[in-house]
Amino acid sequence: MAVILGFALLFASISLATSPNSTTPTSTVSGSTQTSSNGAFVTSMELSVEDLWDMYVGPVSTFSINTTVEATLVPSSSLIPPPTLYYPPFPTGQQIALQSKNESWKFPKDFWYGVASAAYQVEGAVKDEGRGPSIWDVLTHRVTNFVAHNDTGDIADNHYYMYKQDIARIAAMGIKAYSFSISWSRILPFGSGEVNEEALKHYDDLIDTCLQYNVIPMVTLYHWDMPLFLQNTYGGWLSDRIIDDFTEYARIVFTRWSSKVSHWFTLNEPIVFCNFYPLPANTFKATSIPPKQQPFVCGHNALLAHASAYHVGKSLNSSLTISFKNNGGYKIPLTDSAADREATQRAYDFNEGWFANPLFLTGDYPTSMQPFLSTFLPPFTAAQKAALNGSADIFAHDAYTSSFYSAPTDGGIPACTANASHPLYPACYNTTSVYATGWNIGPAADPAAAWLNWATDWVPAFLRHVQATWKPRGGIAVSEFGFAEPFEALKSRPEDVAFDPVRAAYYRAYLEGVLMAVGEGVRVVGCLAWSIFDNLEWSSGYTVKFGVQYVNLTTQERFYKASFFEYVNMFNTYQET
Ligand code: NOJ
Repeated sequence: MAVILGFALLFASISLATSPNSTTPTSTVSGSTQTSSNGAFVTSMELSVEDLWDMYVGPVSTFSINTTVEATLVPSSSLIPPPTLYYPPFPTGQQIALQSKNESWKFPKDFWYGVASAAYQVEGAVKDEGRGPSIWDVLTHRVTNFVAHNDTGDIADNHYYMYKQDIARIAAMGIKAYSFSISWSRILPFGSGEVNEEALKHYDDLIDTCLQYNVIPMVTLYHWDMPLFLQNTYGGWLSDRIIDDFTEYARIVFTRWSSKVSHWFTLNEPIVFCNFYPLPANTFKATSIPPKQQPFVCGHNALLAHASAYHVGKSLNSSLTISFKNNGGYKIPLTDSAADREATQRAYDFNEGWFANPLFLTGDYPTSMQPFLSTFLPPFTAAQKAALNGSADIFAHDAYTSSFYSAPTDGGIPACTANASHPLYPACYNTTSVYATGWNIGPAADPAAAWLNWATDWVPAFLRHVQATWKPRGGIAVSEFGFAEPFEALKSRPEDVAFDPVRAAYYRAYLEGVLMAVGEGVRVVGCLAWSIFDNLEWSSGYTVKFGVQYVNLTTQERFYKASFFEYVNMFNTYQET
């Protein structure tokens, strides 16, 4: 096999074939040795998935359970709820069987509540059954200290093999919906081209298992795990070639499962994955796009890819609910000054509005973004605007917390927007979790999740804001919310980890906020707790825990946490039957 360094692939055209001696998909880069017009050396090579792993990732760890495990009955002993966690100002708890309830609150009958996960964070089995590598296999294996303790997703929660039991366990708790993501590079090991049948069969069974347990499957197409081959070939989201490749991937997935899965999310948190750019230097294909522009080039392509996938899905089954998952939280001006109020609006524009305005309002970016974006992005064409506008059936929002916003202190917003080298340029706002009085907005989460405070007081205002601003026709879903219990990773006895009072109280208070908003006429259609269990928290590795179940990463045993009981208790108490 002729081997050339990856980035020479730039100048070659790629076709996909199956090598005669194996069922492993290979990618052939065609063209004989020659010199292209710009003088680059071009040759031909054949790459197998195995080659990709060898060249870019190296050896990966595996777990002893590496075939699909059948579910066993969830023992009733593990379904005993914890003692009451909420302490009203009169005696209750174990002695008095009393569930306090506000009789004027209710979740509508069709409100769905579930738990969520994402492929790379939970599946493990990264090289199994034909999966091609994604950028996260490289980031975890090849970029030292990119992830805390250099943790990897090689094994994670071994959910790839243990999903049957995992679904049985959430069903036993009464959970109605399970939101998971599909690994693009399992379905298409090179990101495009030949389809990996084993992966399709795997997700067939995952979806069928949900249905068998009466759990509604909800599928995310892209949760940050860009197929490595696409990143190395053309820069992933930095190239408009991603639009067609994502659309074709979406077409394969929608075609296979649109009759079984009704709720779909195209992209998970594009604000976050676009802000991953620039990716670590010397790791993937180099780009000449200036670092400050890269997130917005990514965003542009992500918006068009979303809209294109949306229309493919709807053309196959018009009854599907398709959206993307936005993220952010309630934004409060630090002071009542006009400058802080303007900074707060800019924060909405450069976060939620970046994706929500094109899809829910105008087919275009917020006006405050345009002076910067118009210097390097082509304007959306009329056809693109038409495709974007309206291409989200619900407003799915991952909303964990709230923060304060203020204008830059050195000359305010005008001085910042006029100075491209200002550190806050182009968004030009400051943010903090601390009130002007010096008090935190609410208790802090684990120190390794410094972005997160328990700030549920603001949930009703936030939901009202989303409804009033973007007017989603199908309502709002809180598609992720959750809390990193402080210092949980330091605990090792399951009974210690399982008792998580701060997370439990967070879920209770958050859902009370949702109930208040519903009572005020905000249309909230569902919510998903993050996460089904502890998992690889991206660059924080396994040091930060978001699960409503604890996972012993050595034995892969699962334990329900108290917060899980508190979470379902809220629906047992308040959902209309
Ligand atoms: C949002 C992301 O979608 C998820 O992957 C992450 O683990 C949680 N937030 C917690 O940070």
